[in-house]
Amino acid sequence: MARRKKVYEGKAKILYEGPEPGTLVQYFKDDATAFNAQKRAIIEGKGVLNNRLSEFFMKGLAQIGVPTHFIRRINMREQLIRSVEIIPLEVVVRNYAAGSMSTRLGLEEGTLLPRPIVEFCLKDDALGDPLVSEEHIVAFGWANQQDLDDMVALALRVNDFLSGCFLAVGIKLVDFKIEIGRIWDGDYQRLVVADEISPDSCRLWDMETGQKLDKDVFRRDLGNLTDAYTEVARRLGVLPQNV
Ligand code: C5P
Repeated sequence: MARRKKVYEGKAKILYEGPEPGTLVQYFKDDATAFNAQKRAIIEGKGVLNNRLSEFFMKGLAQIGVPTHFIRRINMREQLIRSVEIIPLEVVVRNYAAGSMSTRLGLEEGTLLPRPIVEFCLKDDALGDPLVSEEHIVAFGWANQQDLDDMVALALRVNDFLSGCFLAVGIKLVDFKIEIGRIWDGDYQRLVVADEISPDSCRLWDMETGQKLDKDVFRRDLGNLTDAYTEVARRLGVLPQNV
């Protein structure tokens, strides 16, 4: 079989040319990184779980009319996606204080926020993905005001959907990050949810015990990451075979 042409390799995923123009194959690796890749490990089975979980969330979003890059899952580690122009911003939605927000504002982790808060970070590893304001985003041309309004609306819809999914299985969605891409249809642009949605990019706490079921298990050395992700997949009913 002909090898696929690699288009891009990131920390946790590889993108290959897809079978048709405008498509890519997204491959989920087992690599885990944290603190801007200063901490690294191979976590056996993580890629398989994230491929399944991202498929589950992207399909669910499509069902409620939120556009995504997802087309279909190909196999245990790969999915076919639409090629998009990634907006160079990480869009973080927070329901409870945790992580960098707790550090920055001195809020105790787990404090319920007055409302969901959307933050933007510039996607730039060399700078450590700094928090940026809407003023920065528009002034430097990373997105215009209309894009920003659309991104906030999209992120809040994703938050409502994911919060509901997790609430139903006894998990609190503390915060998460998404990436958003543009798809061009002539001069007309559509914003879609891209990249992945998985426990790598969410904070997920068991509602009863507060147990962490996300990448903080790896970041903070709290136990076995595959076990945590398997528990999330099991509760959502998307547990793959052979993990
Ligand atoms: O570190 P921080 O508290 O800002 O992270 C907020 C949320 O965004 C967490 O769920 C984290 O997993 C996610 N995130 C991510 N990729 C990054 C930074 C944060 O998925 N580069």
